[in-house]
Amino acid sequence: MTQSNCSRREFLGLSAAAAGASFAAKPMVSLPRNLMLAPEAVPPSERVRFGMIGVGMQGNWLLSESIKLPGVECAAACDLYDGRHTLAREIVRADLPVTRRYQALLDDKSIDCIVAAVPDHWHKQVVVDAVSAGKDIYCEKPMSHTAADGVAMVDAAKKTGHIVQIGSQRVSSQICAKAKELIAQGTLGDLMLVEGWLGRNDPTGAWQYPPPPDLSPRNLDWDTWQGTVPKRAFDPNIFARWRCWKEYGTGVAGDLLVHLISGMMFMLGINEPPKQASAVGGIRRWKDGRNMPDVHAVVYYFGELPVYMRLNLGTEMPEAYRIQGSKGVLDVTGSTLSLTPQTGKDSYPSYYTGSYPRAMREAYLEKWHLENDPKPGQAAAMPETMSFSGPDFDDVRPHLWTFFDAVRTRKPVVEDAVFGHNAALACHMANESYFRKSAVSWDEASKTIR
Ligand SMILES: NC(=O)c1ccc[n+]([C@@H]2O[C@H](COP(=O)([O-])OP(=O)(O)OC[C@H]3O[C@@H](n4cnc5c(N)ncnc54)[C@H](O)[C@@H]3O)[C@@H](O)[C@H]2O)c1
Repeated sequence: MTQSNCSRREFLGLSAAAAGASFAAKPMVSLPRNLMLAPEAVPPSERVRFGMIGVGMQGNWLLSESIKLPGVECAAACDLYDGRHTLAREIVRADLPVTRRYQALLDDKSIDCIVAAVPDHWHKQVVVDAVSAGKDIYCEKPMSHTAADGVAMVDAAKKTGHIVQIGSQRVSSQICAKAKELIAQGTLGDLMLVEGWLGRNDPTGAWQYPPPPDLSPRNLDWDTWQGTVPKRAFDPNIFARWRCWKEYGTGVAGDLLVHLISGMMFMLGINEPPKQASAVGGIRRWKDGRNMPDVHAVVYYFGELPVYMRLNLGTEMPEAYRIQGSKGVLDVTGSTLSLTPQTGKDSYPSYYTGSYPRAMREAYLEKWHLENDPKPGQAAAMPETMSFSGPDFDDVRPHLWTFFDAVRTRKPVVEDAVFGHNAALACHMANESYFRKSAVSWDEASKTIR
């Protein structure tokens, strides 16, 4: 099971209960027509050839999904661990060209674009090298390992004009698209607060992955894997569980919070970093030598909007948003939306008037009922909860499709380098605040976290 399966299930976790509680479930999701075409229906001139960099837990999934898309072909795969060359050949074809050096894919003129699923500490170099070599690139989330890396990646994308799409697939979720539409129509009134949460409660969810049993410096280029991080002796646990350490990963913030943030930015039409972040958390459950928190709760200001996100690797909770406005609440999970409108008006006379003397109270009550009770023949207002549900399919597939379609058509993508950078900044700010034990803000002038 890949993590994307796993996080997809988490995002779907509430759907059955939410659908059961709804009054009206309207099926609403259909795949773009192009996604349903048979691969051979695409003329050779429109085919896109990609090179795959990183065929690990997420890369094997992206590779398998990409080659099922019409008009999309894998030309070669790269990984530093030879076991993943075998895996790539098992997925694509027995004679797929494979290499340990990604530069070989960038030098290959027959390759149009790159799909990269390498650990976070390699994202910047792979993206900068890819766009500088003239390739478009789909790079996994979080876009950057540090704020400075993100700044360099945005600069490289702007300078070269190549397409960069980041892999937070909520942005291609049709449930999130429906939520975006409802919010843009003003259904929620003025936004008051956004909440999001996700919890896990098992070793795999907490990244205690089993390293491949044959892993050794003979079949893995351990030196290159470490990149620019201070070198350590070969350690299979670091190879498999890199998310646990800030030297390579970005903690629950970059692993999970980034999905909540990207989805929220998409639904609310935000494309800027938070003004301020204030985090609490700790290593509360998985005391296995990691240096990143396993519980992390963050309060943000996105502009003036308060946003409260919480991640917990010690208690399981399905991934969900609760978007709160002056006209109601929108609950968003992976495959359902539930909109509960609110009038924002008193439904009863104010209980404060219980403190009036009788004559005053009775005069108030009489006036209130006269002004507010339904007139004879008039129906009382009954705000109706509405539910929308979609079929269970993985948003990774349409997200990949958006990228390959953009490579072909040069259409800009939503989750480009600027969007990816802004979402990643929210994660870096959450980590900075946790480690500094104080609120932090983004300073656009110096492009640093203060
Ligand atoms: N969108 C999602 O839902 C989702 C889910 C899981 C992981 N991810 C992201 O995907 C990325 C990869 O995560 P993973 O769990 O697959 O990691 P992984 O460790 O399982 O796989 C990474 C692979 O990249 C290879 N690699 C590392 N540096 C390389 C280099 N310089 N050149 C070539 N290959 C190199 C490694 O050998 C390894 O096989 C991460 O950024 C992660 O956050 C996204």
